[in-house]
Amino acid sequence: MSAAGPGAAPAATPAAEARPVPDAALLARARALAAGPRRLLGLAGAPGAGKSTLAAAVVDALGERAVLVPMDGFHLAQAALERLGRADRKGAPDTFDAAGFVALLRRLRTEAGTVWAPAFDRALEEPVAGAIAVPPGVPLVVVEGNYLLHDDGDWGAVADLLDETWFVEVDDAVRVERLVARHVAFGKAPDAARAWVLGPDERNARLVAAGRARADVVVHP
Ligand SMILES: Nc1ncnc2c1ncn2[C@@H]1O[C@H](COP(=O)(O)OP(=O)(O)OP(=O)(O)O)[C@@H](O)[C@H]1O
Ligand SMILES: [Mg+2]
Repeated sequence: MSAAGPGAAPAATPAAEARPVPDAALLARARALAAGPRRLLGLAGAPGAGKSTLAAAVVDALGERAVLVPMDGFHLAQAALERLGRADRKGAPDTFDAAGFVALLRRLRTEAGTVWAPAFDRALEEPVAGAIAVPPGVPLVVVEGNYLLHDDGDWGAVADLLDETWFVEVDDAVRVERLVARHVAFGKAPDAARAWVLGPDERNARLVAAGRARADVVVHP
């Protein structure tokens, strides 16, 4: 990871030069998807499994032929979660604008012009509208997030809008420790970080695991 200056926000994923290099077979799959008209590749997996890291590495490797669109951009705003009484389970399926995400995926499949996607600012813990441009000539959109294979409510429409899905999986103990470390890096006290990982994050991990069988391939980055 690159050195951050005093007070600088930590990066959400390791800097490009510090990212794990994706497996050659995975890269070949991604390159094949990027060889023709617009395709959407989805990376699903539990919190902390490494989706964002792997997706960023794949997109880096493909250069101008791929853009990364995170499901996390559809987090409801903190103020909305507080109004709804859902702030204590931020990250659960009903704390996202799932219908908005589905609408964006449809637009990414059909629209002739540039489509703007929202990002998620992990330091602010807020979505940021209009942060990611997806120009029409980019063949591959890599979409990543927890609930791409979730089949409840509006989420159920997501899988059919993806051309291929990978389920990202690591040993659970490793995943939990990485997630605790990431929460701490973004400002949570160690005890609070562990309580969040073993509480809300773990409930979400179980929901995500139910979608594993629907993935085209299970990957262990
Ligand atoms: N292959 C790897 N080797 C070492 N550390 C990794 C690896 N992949 C991811 N990490 C680290 O593990 C943590 C979780 O990874 P990442 O943020 O990519 O997971 P995620 O699946 O996107 O999680 P979330 O669902 O919470 O967004 C990060 O701190 C990341 O730097
Ligand atoms: Mg992520």
